[in-house]
Order: sequence, then C-alpha cells, then structure tokens
Amino acid sequence: MVGGAGETSYASNSKFPEKVLHMAKPILEEAIRGVYMSLLPERMAVVDLGCSSGPNTLKVVSEVLDVIGKLRRSLGRQEMPEILFFLNDLPGNDFNHVFRSLGDYRRKVEEEKGNLLVPYYVVGVPGSFYGRLFPCQSVHFFNASCCLNWLSQVPDGEQGVLLNNKNICVAETSPVEVVKAYQDQHQRDLSEFLRCRHAELSYGGRMVLSFLGRKGSYPPSGDMGYFFGLLAEALSALVSQGIIEEEKLVTFNLPLYSPSMEEVKAVIHREDLFDIEQAQIFEANWDPFDGSDDDSAAFDSIVSGKNVAGNVRAVVQSLIAEHFGDAILDELFSIYEANVPRHLLQRKSKHYVFVISLKKKEEEEADGDAAAAAAW
Ligand SMILES: C[S@@+](CC[C@H](N)C(=O)[O-])C[C@H]1O[C@@H](n2cnc3c(N)ncnc32)[C@H](O)[C@@H]1O
Repeated sequence: MVGGAGETSYASNSKFPEKVLHMAKPILEEAIRGVYMSLLPERMAVVDLGCSSGPNTLKVVSEVLDVIGKLRRSLGRQEMPEILFFLNDLPGNDFNHVFRSLGDYRRKVEEEKGNLLVPYYVVGVPGSFYGRLFPCQSVHFFNASCCLNWLSQVPDGEQGVLLNNKNICVAETSPVEVVKAYQDQHQRDLSEFLRCRHAELSYGGRMVLSFLGRKGSYPPSGDMGYFFGLLAEALSALVSQGIIEEEKLVTFNLPLYSPSMEEVKAVIHREDLFDIEQAQIFEANWDPFDGSDDDSAAFDSIVSGKNVAGNVRAVVQSLIAEHFGDAILDELFSIYEANVPRHLLQRKSKHYVFVISLKKKEEEEADGDAAAAAAW
C-alpha cells in the first residue's frame, strides 16, 4: 500500500475497504459480543490483521470499544475491562503514520465518551499473518478486513515463472495450470492462516474475515479477472508504445486471488479447527462512491473510473514499481482510469464481499476457563 496521506496514498483512497467494514459491522458486533458474553474477560486482546495505515485502521478499535462499553453497562458491571489492541501488517506498512494518529484519536474518543471510555492500549505488530504472530491462546478476537485476498506469494510456475498469457492474475484466458497454481496457493495459505490463528486464540475466541470472493465455481468466472484485466490491458498498451518490454509483462503476476465460498468452506471444514457462525455474501459496486443499486451503466463512468483507479493504484502501485520501475506509474494509471469507464458503460460491475465469522472449536473446553484467564 502507498503510505503517508498524499493524493495517491492508501489513506486517501480507502473508501472501498471502508464500505466493506460497514457491511461487516453487524457480524463484527455479534462476534465481539459473543466473545465478551461467554468469557467476561477482565483484559481482552484484540487483533486487526492487515490494518494498513489510513482512516480505516482505527475503525475496528472504535467498534470494539463501543460494543464492549455498551455491554458492560447493560450488564451493570462496575469494573471496566481493559483492552489491548494489536495492529498487524507487513513490516513495510506505514506504521509511523498510524502511531502519529493515535494521539488525536485518543483525544477524540475521550471527548466523545468521557469516563465511559473503556481503557485501551494500542501496539503495532509487524509480520505476515501467514505465520505465527502471537503466543498460544493469547488472543480473544481477530479481525481481518480486505487483506486475505493477498496470497503469501505469487504461485511458482514451471522453472519458477508463471506464464499467464499476459494476464496478471487469474483471468478468462489464463492457462489451466495457472488457474490450478493460484487455487492451490490459496488453499495452502488459508490452511496455514487458520492453523496459526487457532493456536493463538483463547478458547471461546472468535474471528471475522472479510474479503472479496467470487460467485462462479471456476476461478476465471470471478470479477477480479475483469478488474485486473483492465490493468493488464493498460500494461499491454505500454508494451505497444515501446515503454515496457513484453518480456517484463509476461513475467509479471499479482499475488491476489478471490475464492468462491465453496473453496473457503472446504478449507475450513478440512482443517476442522473452527465452527462457522456466519457466512454472508454482499455486493458492492466497483466504485465505492456509487451507492446506487441499479445494474445498468455506472452513474458517472468517468468519475467512477477515477475513483476505481485511485483505489487500485494505492493498493498495487508498489508491486508494479518494483517490477517495471516507477517511471511508468502515471501513464499506466491514466490508461487504466480510461479503461474502467469503457467497461462500466457496458455493465455496472460489482465485487462480491464475503464476511465469515468463525469460532474456535471447543473440544478442549475443560481447559477453556483456565486458558482464557491466563490470556496475556
Ligand atoms: C487493502 S488493505 C486493507 C487494510 C485495512 N484492513 C482496511 O480495511 O482498510 C490490505 C492490507 O493487508 C496487508 N497484508 C497483505 N498481506 C499480508 C500479510 N501476509 N500479513 C499481514 N498483512 C498483510 C497489506 O499490507 C495491506 O495493508
């Protein structure tokens, strides 16, 4: 993600993930309520995985403070629980931007809530969520919003390179071996993610995962293929103009994948570590500023093109710059910005947002109370 707060930063272009958080809010609230009511912990450890840096980063913190504050009052409990928030992302994330915003955030919530504010502490945890991040049974609740579409790596192809027919992720014209390689990588990554979180969650712990999915069963049927297909087209245009070499495009793929609900559920069932409490599918326009439900052309396709391109640039710019160099960025994204309206004029496109709430399985419940009490 692009750090800081400039025009092309993630912080200035994160309206779509904000919408996802809004969609997931009732499910998030129910999961937090479930953890609190079943454990009544005096101290809670809450983790936001893939927190990034921007206006959404502290939204989960606010949500948890709200829910726990209200529950404590409704239960008539005198003692305030204390909450420790862990904000996780890859080490390259702009954690400094997040840390600098904490003072203003605290002033704001103190003003809003006064002495009803639940005491809380915030720390940053750099590292990949495809490995262990926390000690055993030390976390009560995990949230992961808009980050599980990122694989741990681009899958390996023959001789290390995935030849994807000039696509940059799974698309209609991707060879079957490429589709299979992405599918397998996603299954391996999700399995590892579930095993790590299971070890780290205390008994009674829960997590909510929100990410982009697809409706069709065969991977190229997803809309991510179209979405990034338009970026692949923009890269091909730069090849035609002689600005980038074809060889460079042929060897470029994004570590992104949108699974079907069946694929995700199959991995969850196979691992047998979590019960699925909720699994819902929402639809959201590509352009997060377009709130209309009608399925025809986008309401202002030019403006939508700008909005969509801004979000995509903030998300993939660093990977593009690493492979092709940063001199192409402005030209590339201005072509992409023009490609999006052309597509949106044919049909208004929507992402499918999956929100899944999971509860740690309780086969060792006998130890549960002790383990939860021992959590951090
Ligand atoms: C699209 S942003 C979403 C940020 C935020 N959750 C939101 O809702 O706005 C995805 C974030 O996931 C992070 N991410 C991707 N892969 C990760 C991994 N393996 N471990 C930790 N964070 C990861 C990225 O660095 C990025 O900040």
